[in-house]
Amino acid sequence: MKTDKGPATFGHKHLLGIEQLAAEDITLIMETADSFKEISTRTIKKVPALRGKTVINLFYEPSTRTRTSFEIAEKRLSADSINIAVSTSAVVKGESLKDTVKTLMAMQPDIIVMRHQNGGAPHFLTQIVDASVINAGDGIHEHPTQALLDLFTIIEKKQAVKGLVVTIAGDIAHSRVARSNILCLAKMGATVRVAGPPTMIPAGIQKMGARVFHRFEEACQDADVVMMLRLQTERQAEGLFSTLREYNRLWGLSARMLRYAKKDAIVMHPGPMNRGVEIDPEIADGSRSVILDQVENGIAVRMAVLYLLSGGTGDITE
Ligand code: CP
Repeated sequence: MKTDKGPATFGHKHLLGIEQLAAEDITLIMETADSFKEISTRTIKKVPALRGKTVINLFYEPSTRTRTSFEIAEKRLSADSINIAVSTSAVVKGESLKDTVKTLMAMQPDIIVMRHQNGGAPHFLTQIVDASVINAGDGIHEHPTQALLDLFTIIEKKQAVKGLVVTIAGDIAHSRVARSNILCLAKMGATVRVAGPPTMIPAGIQKMGARVFHRFEEACQDADVVMMLRLQTERQAEGLFSTLREYNRLWGLSARMLRYAKKDAIVMHPGPMNRGVEIDPEIADGSRSVILDQVENGIAVRMAVLYLLSGGTGDITE
């Protein structure tokens, strides 16, 4: 994105959530990611944009997609990338988050990418470190890079997002993906619907820009995008639904349910999936599924975020 004053710069030191971003920031990330995507198709998948920078990936919760995707993005930008698996760190000896991070900061990293089980942990980090902080998922609060890669995938498949109807369905209450996506899609002009059992719809979610549906069929009616969420059994108390079979019958995305959406509707899921619970296997693996495109696009989007937070402009020339 160019302005009268030249290439646009990203006016943020950290990426803590979609909440802090304006539509122009999100557009700049999309445009930058678009120019980075081609790098992953090259024989030598590397550019020198972050040469000399050190990035620490500090994950207090399990991750396959986000951690790997950040590491690949960092390596494709030529950054020095260090992974800390909390399960094999001094955290298991009782070291606090503050002491862990102060210890890491003594090693002069430029960026810390953090996933943590507590909402607000990355925000706390910004008060004690000089490095840029990227939120890779904090409790049930936000997962901004997931929403950005989801938006990138929607634009790639549908050419635009403004005016599209996006249905987000399932365990809304425990989903940081849902929160970040609602904020992101509403800012970019989509009509956002959320659907799920009443026990999994948090009070006041409408204020974030979504309309609530309690019947999945109605929520899917003429939707352009159906985004399913993982049933987060690790975060919820018992008793929010009767049985997994009942959940699948009412809230699982099946071929029957997908018929309510537009004929060219795409199906998304942030992963990991509970096949046969929130999504039927033939839909997850079917022609309308863009789930693996989401994974692929995560690299370009995370490259864009790392690059912009390091002071890069929207122009990639090498
Ligand atoms: N979508 C997502 O955050 O997946 P991981 O938990 O594997 O990182």
